[in-house]
Amino acid sequence: MSDLDPAPDTIRAASDIVPASILIAPHPSLRRKARPVRPEDAVKLRALLPGMWEAMYRAPGIGLAAPQVGLDLRFALVDLMENEVPAPITLINPEILRVSDQLATREEGCLSLPGMYAEVVRPESVRVRYQDLDGRRHELDATGLLATCLQHEIDHLDGILFVDHLSTLKRNMIMRRLAKDQRQKPGPGAG
Ligand code: NI
Repeated sequence: MSDLDPAPDTIRAASDIVPASILIAPHPSLRRKARPVRPEDAVKLRALLPGMWEAMYRAPGIGLAAPQVGLDLRFALVDLMENEVPAPITLINPEILRVSDQLATREEGCLSLPGMYAEVVRPESVRVRYQDLDGRRHELDATGLLATCLQHEIDHLDGILFVDHLSTLKRNMIMRRLAKDQRQKPGPGAG
């Protein structure tokens, strides 16, 4: 996948970039299993990435997966912005190789479920394999917030949302509250 090199023209001033629109649950695109990124997707990916980063940073969020902007492709963006220092990672075809037996509980939210948060139990550490834009393979050992974030984003590629890790009762409560919030949201042009 060496033709996934980022083109120099993808580096532009943020003001030129139109942020991608983030889909809100229960949009059906959020429930599909996305297909692997292939070398021939390179041109499309190059064109899409700036708008996706822009949408994620503006939200603001620490992760955004392709299905959240309606793309049937296995890639996700992550930047924890720890100490407000950008550390963007583009994860192409990521897969979890190993998880710890040790579990951790962490509060999660999602740009596709705005305003909704819940404590989710997941493995505390993971090893993830992914490809970068140059087609190189990487393995990343992550723990803490990064481990949670990686699992959350990889879940998106399989049509799984963080609420799926909760009890049916809690999940239904959150989905009802989200639907109510979305109905009450002023539409475009409502000021
Ligand atoms: Ni999410």
